[in-house]
Amino acid sequence: MATLDRGNFNSRLGFVLAAAGSAIGLGNIWRFPYTAGTYGGGAWVLMYIFFVVVIGVPVMFAELSIGNHTQASPVTAFKKLVPGSWWPYLGALGVVTGFGILSFYSVIAGLTVVYAGFALAGRFSGGLDIAQSGMIFTDITADPVWMIGVAAFFLLITALVVRKGVGGGIEKAATFLMPVLFVFLLILVGRALTLPTAGEGLAFMFQPHLDEITFAGTVSALGQALFSLSLGMGAMITYGSYLDRDENLPASAITIAVFDTSIAILAGLVIFPALFLVGAEATAGPGLIFVVMGGIFDAMPASNVMAFIFYGLLSIAALTSTISLLEVIVAYFVDEKGWMREKATWVVAGACFALAVPSALSLGASETLTGLGEGRGFLGFVDLFCGTYFLTIGAMLISFFVGWRWGVPAAVAAIERGGHKMPVAAAWGFLVRYVCPLAILILLFYGATQGANW
Ligand code: PHE
Repeated sequence: MATLDRGNFNSRLGFVLAAAGSAIGLGNIWRFPYTAGTYGGGAWVLMYIFFVVVIGVPVMFAELSIGNHTQASPVTAFKKLVPGSWWPYLGALGVVTGFGILSFYSVIAGLTVVYAGFALAGRFSGGLDIAQSGMIFTDITADPVWMIGVAAFFLLITALVVRKGVGGGIEKAATFLMPVLFVFLLILVGRALTLPTAGEGLAFMFQPHLDEITFAGTVSALGQALFSLSLGMGAMITYGSYLDRDENLPASAITIAVFDTSIAILAGLVIFPALFLVGAEATAGPGLIFVVMGGIFDAMPASNVMAFIFYGLLSIAALTSTISLLEVIVAYFVDEKGWMREKATWVVAGACFALAVPSALSLGASETLTGLGEGRGFLGFVDLFCGTYFLTIGAMLISFFVGWRWGVPAAVAAIERGGHKMPVAAAWGFLVRYVCPLAILILLFYGATQGANW
């Protein structure tokens, strides 16, 4: 019954692409380079990749198995697995986290749409330098009406897709567009690697300076691995729940992780050479890609066309992610509170808009909001809390749940019910039982006692 009412993905490819669509987004192309830049590049990037493999992939298996087995969104899923316990609150934490992420994510996503518009207006040509591209960014982010407007616009589009349910909107949009993004990034990488500053960019990205490793940086690399894979808040529980029970979960999980991580690395290969080309600071913060990418387009023929394609695709990548964020929250109200999907969608999107407003004003428009949290700004602050700490805590508890409460054998049985053998099940069991919860606990503890980085 549940499956019929809740809607399902029409094909495995559709699911993989939709889940990959959730994973691939601003996290890979906007958040990855700016966070890597903040923490010094090289060593941070290696830690990020390490965490994807050692913590991200195991937690991905955990989430997909919970969702697919229970065919329910997070809160309901925990209620089904351990009735009468406090575990459903873990699902609720995911709903809150998703809400926070969606609020600031819409602001940046809205900016990508504005930048696609700038490209149409021909603003990416004529020896664009750092002063000029910095100016474009400063001008737009200082304008409260535009900033709030674009966030509202993006939330509206997201709501229009989500109100139709998964099979209709989400799957169709993602199936086509994610591969296009991949190919287009390859073209940009080709240009970036032939720039005179390619060597410097690559060195920054891959040469580890071990002395720069801090606990705060390590926690942020872990947070980025989770953020980028859409883990720690139940998005993959929810998506797994829409998938038929006989699907090949192991293959799906690995495909998504490989696809997602490759896109982040490709984005880095474009952005870091461009960074040195335009002479920007790696620590520029959330504005980094907006300021830097102009340089790469300017170094290409048909710069405005290229910029338009890039920002257009980035907007769509962001959309497939905002859809998954909103979907988790809407699924909660539909599954738990019995709301109609339509009502849930509009109420949640409206409430999220209210929280998006201070984020929208915190990239320059309001001095107070911009300067908050030692200069991180309101947006950076919500990003740090929801995108790093809450996701990390969520992932820790999810792996603890699967490892110790639900149990590895039960989870493996759920994963294998579709008839597809789970590879390295014993190693996975070890990772979710011991490594994931403990490593995260230790990192969070030291990250917090070091005064974090805000
Ligand atoms: N993974 C998405 C990205 O990289 C963001 C996201 C996080 C989506 C958590 C859903 C859940 O952009």
